[in-house]
Amino acid sequence: MTQREVRPAPRLRGTVAVPGDKSISHRAAMFNALADGEATVENFLAGEDCLSTLAVLRSLGVDSELDTSSERPRLQVRGIGIDGLREPAEVLDCGNSGTTMRLMSGVLAGQPFHAVLTGDASLRARPMDRIATPLRQMGARIDGRDSGRFAPLSVRGGGLAGVRYPMPVASAQVKSAVLLAALFAAGATTVDEAEPTRDHTERMLAAMGAGVEREGPAVRLTPGDRLRPLSMRVPNDISAAAFWLVAAVIHPDAELRLDGVGMNPTRTGIIDALRTMGADVAVEEERQVAGEPVADLVVRSSTLHGTIVDGAMIPRLIDEVPALAVAAAFAHGATEIRDAAELRVKESDRIASVVSELRALGVDITERPDGMTIGGGSGVRGGRGRSFGDHRLAMALAVAGLASRDGVIVDGAESAAVSYPEFWEHLDAVAGGAAGRA
Ligand code: S3P
Repeated sequence: MTQREVRPAPRLRGTVAVPGDKSISHRAAMFNALADGEATVENFLAGEDCLSTLAVLRSLGVDSELDTSSERPRLQVRGIGIDGLREPAEVLDCGNSGTTMRLMSGVLAGQPFHAVLTGDASLRARPMDRIATPLRQMGARIDGRDSGRFAPLSVRGGGLAGVRYPMPVASAQVKSAVLLAALFAAGATTVDEAEPTRDHTERMLAAMGAGVEREGPAVRLTPGDRLRPLSMRVPNDISAAAFWLVAAVIHPDAELRLDGVGMNPTRTGIIDALRTMGADVAVEEERQVAGEPVADLVVRSSTLHGTIVDGAMIPRLIDEVPALAVAAAFAHGATEIRDAAELRVKESDRIASVVSELRALGVDITERPDGMTIGGGSGVRGGRGRSFGDHRLAMALAVAGLASRDGVIVDGAESAAVSYPEFWEHLDAVAGGAAGRA
């Protein structure tokens, strides 16, 4: 396990090009694997999670080449067509990646063969019944520990029929698993969403020629017989940019520029929440890249006040709550995060882990069953925080360190590489060498 010490930084300055979006990178690899022909994906996220997706696809017979020699990684995928996957000879290891396991379960549900998916200890403790239930309704045979609640998961697919599935949880992974299985089903499938979740799957499948339509709160997919390859440039990841947004707004002497950040409205909750709190975030050069809105962000030191974040806002910033909790520690007045029980089944129990680690750093924070309350005004004293192997917690603790009184030692700092391999390098660059190795 690696430790990093983050010392308080005198100032934060610079331009950060955060890596490519994780959700879009996974999908670009998976969907192009099923297309007829080759695609080039620029700015692919070469983080551990997306490498897990490439390894799983390789075991299913899909060749890809990841070129990391230039500044931004480029992935070449040789699609093998909608019927081209072959039965894997080995267990498919999804590492730490929930997106890999859940979306690939949807793909595998449509295949006339058997496959077994597993992952690290964190992933094996995350709920898989949420995808097993609808995929079984479509006709797949799925089993796993505790009757299919947990991986290792065994999937024997094929012979699927379309369904109408009302989602009991707001989850883009569940929606995507069902839509991917629907590509292989007889008849149309409709997924009803109670609250909108990220829509990258719908956008990309539609761009590849699949019959996807949105009907109000529902998404309907009518299967066709082929997908066109989709060469694209992946926008930079707003979930990675979120750490710099928070770093700048909590720091007394900061101005950071974040180039080419994905601004899909299903993902921009963190910008809305920070602005509601008084954050100085400017959105410049709004444009479209590969069917996704993108912009440059300029963020400066800000005076923040507390807020309430709940309801439909939660899916729009679900991955940014660890960073948001750090911002709330610097706000005047309390911030409440509610309706976010989903955080308990992320890479760590992010309610318990954020609360315990920020409290250890001197933050006034209390746990709620479905979220947390941050008293505000405490700032961050500093000390030692554990990542529990959770990339987003590691990075949130590091950002807290930049604006802390005494500095923060992050235990388990290596986990940042799951979604942001260059995180520590970028931290050094904006803070002028604030992160040492403890
Ligand atoms: C993701 C969806 C979200 C998010 C995860 C990535 C995706 O998970 O937390 O990091 O790529 O579809 P849920 O679908 O479980 O909410």
